[in-house]
Amino acid sequence: MASIAVCPGSFDPITFGHLDIISRGAKVFDQVYVSILNNSSKKPLFTVEERIQLIREVTKDIPNVKVDSFHGLLVDYAKEIGANAIIRGLRAVSDFEYEMQLTSMNRFLNHEIETFYIMTNNQYSFLSSSIVKEVAQYSGNISELVPPIVEQALQAKFKS
Ligand code: PNS
Repeated sequence: MASIAVCPGSFDPITFGHLDIISRGAKVFDQVYVSILNNSSKKPLFTVEERIQLIREVTKDIPNVKVDSFHGLLVDYAKEIGANAIIRGLRAVSDFEYEMQLTSMNRFLNHEIETFYIMTNNQYSFLSSSIVKEVAQYSGNISELVPPIVEQALQAKFKS
């Protein structure tokens, strides 16, 4: 049976930190769905469609990665696509409490879906989409933090 995992998140936008987790996850699982939470109550910078396009472009060389979006509960979506694993990245101790809550709730909702954490590469331990957006907004150098296509998309958003 093929092992299918879902790597969920907001990805607003995808960073090299996310890409590191996705590519390492794709070495372990047969199929990895990178799935964007479509949450109408959040105000993202990029639309779901824009985020899908950016992730598709930067993961195009990883053949076992699929890009998708979902709404509702993650465990329900995972079941729908036949995934029995969730992949998340862990950067620092500060992530731990939130991630533990997330994982415990997901296990409470569906104990058949296991969550796997991948420690972020040290060089990306400070990186988040929010901090990248803030730096990009003030024209700071983000070239080592996001792929070139994401850098261009951020520059376009903040141009006017
Ligand atoms: O990148 P993020 O914003 O930290 O990702 C959070 C995400 C999307 C993984 C989480 O908010 C989520 O799974 N939301 C879906 C709703 C859900 O299943 N909630 C119950 C578990 S807390």
